[in-house]
Amino acid sequence: MGSAKKIAINTGGGDAPGLNAVIRAATLSALNRGWEVYGIRRAYFGLMGDDEIVPLTRDSVRGITHLGGTILGTTNRGNPFKKPVQQPDGSIKEVDYSDRVIAAFNKCGFDALIAIGGDGSLRIAHDLYEKGLPVVGVPKTIDNDIPGTALTFGFLTAVDIATEAIDRLHSTAQAHERVMIVEVMGRDTGWIALFSGVAGTADVILIPEIPYSIESVCAKVLERERLGRHFTIIVAAEGALPMGGVPVFKDADTKRLGGVCEVLAQQVSAITGKEARAIALRHLQRGGSPTSYDRLIALRFGAAAVQCVERDELGVMVALDPPNVLTIPLAEAIKSQKRVPIHGDVVTTARALGISFGD
Ligand code: F6P
Repeated sequence: MGSAKKIAINTGGGDAPGLNAVIRAATLSALNRGWEVYGIRRAYFGLMGDDEIVPLTRDSVRGITHLGGTILGTTNRGNPFKKPVQQPDGSIKEVDYSDRVIAAFNKCGFDALIAIGGDGSLRIAHDLYEKGLPVVGVPKTIDNDIPGTALTFGFLTAVDIATEAIDRLHSTAQAHERVMIVEVMGRDTGWIALFSGVAGTADVILIPEIPYSIESVCAKVLERERLGRHFTIIVAAEGALPMGGVPVFKDADTKRLGGVCEVLAQQVSAITGKEARAIALRHLQRGGSPTSYDRLIALRFGAAAVQCVERDELGVMVALDPPNVLTIPLAEAIKSQKRVPIHGDVVTTARALGISFGD
């Protein structure tokens, strides 16, 4: 057994069910090696003096595997390279706090940081690693858009939540002979929409990887009408976009997506003459307990991250390559975005079932 280490863990970006399971597995794996473990609260805020650094013990991680959220707190406004700082004249300026973060980390005597996050947090972890911070990344996001890993934890939980919502909408859609448009998350990728749409037997699935034409979407609604199916379920990824067009932003400045279901409801109703209702599932998809498979991925990632620290394999991200968990360089993980393969098996299966992608 190598020398005892002192490690830190943080969680950054939007939460995803399974974060607490990673924290528990990493903490117990480290404690069982005789190491010390600390949690940096709210991503890097704990190292920037805006929050705490807390010891993680057996007691603090007891009974958290099934809990959503993160016991360490998180933020998607905590980039230490661009910390918004109020200036003497009252204005806000983004200041590079990365050197302070590294100095605070070293002052604590940590040997490594296990950084659990999505693409933004992994990029920060990579950039801090380049500046000398010893880090191991753990991929997290309900969007499933991190390359190099077959799955990210949180994704299958979000798919289950969306699938249940689609199941429930069938009966009310049928009763009222309406078109129901369900908007799911996923940013610039359609993983949640595709998986929940196929599992929930949607009639139309709209994903960013396959731009749609509203005429084609409406043709499917009308075709169903002719066949005596007087309701239609449309699942739209929040990043779905019309051919030659752009996605719908809730906030154009911050480029936060949202609202495509409302736009579609208006258009479908105007073109087909049918009543249409829009339902955006939004953060419901990130809340609550992770599914058992997401817990397993998360627990395995936490244990694997500690193994990386033990063998001094730093600057990497743990990744699922069934049946194994392996590592890839952080630099690889942040290079691109994992998008739905438009000729992949799930899309092909959906088309074989008669599901329209609006193309
Ligand atoms: O990346 C995860 C995610 O849930 C996306 O699917 C979604 O677009 C975004 O975060 C929402 O972010 P916020 O929590 O800031 O509303």
